[in-house]
Amino acid sequence: MIDQVIKLFFSAGVASKLQLMVGDALDSLDDLRRKGHEGTFDFCYIDADKKNYTTYFDQSLHLLKPGGVIAVDNTLYRGLVLGDADKVGNWINLANKHFIESRSVEGLLLNVGDGYSLFRKLHIYDKYTVI
Ligand SMILES: C[S@@+](CC[C@H](N)C(=O)[O-])C[C@H]1O[C@@H](n2cnc3c(N)ncnc32)[C@H](O)[C@@H]1O
Repeated sequence: MIDQVIKLFFSAGVASKLQLMVGDALDSLDDLRRKGHEGTFDFCYIDADKKNYTTYFDQSLHLLKPGGVIAVDNTLYRGLVLGDADKVGNWINLANKHFIESRSVEGLLLNVGDGYSLFRKLHIYDKYTVI
């Protein structure tokens, strides 16, 4: 699988621009912060491990530059985020609440596909702001 991903990076001509981090994304994000990459990213994409969406969002806020964008997939989760929500739907529902309560971003939820949300980190946000 990893070999296949690396091959795809090369065939797309972007291998020199990408650094592959293999492992649990929660650890990888901690690593990035520990290694001084806070405030350096333009874009974060969240599309796995629905239970931890809020943690990925908060970690992304630390890693993004002001004005940087977070995209989150599946934010309507098959229409199961409200009412008859299943386990995953409940996680997403809680995450959606967390996102809109954040004072560090402005955002929108698009009703395309399975629901897709976009957030822009506000310029007033810095590492001392409560998120
Ligand atoms: C929905 S797919 C992502 C698809 C990808 N974003 C795309 O558009 O092609 C989720 C992937 O994340 C992986 N994954 C799930 N939990 C993870 C975690 N904690 N850390 C890293 N990868 C994880 C899964 O194995 C799966 O390959």
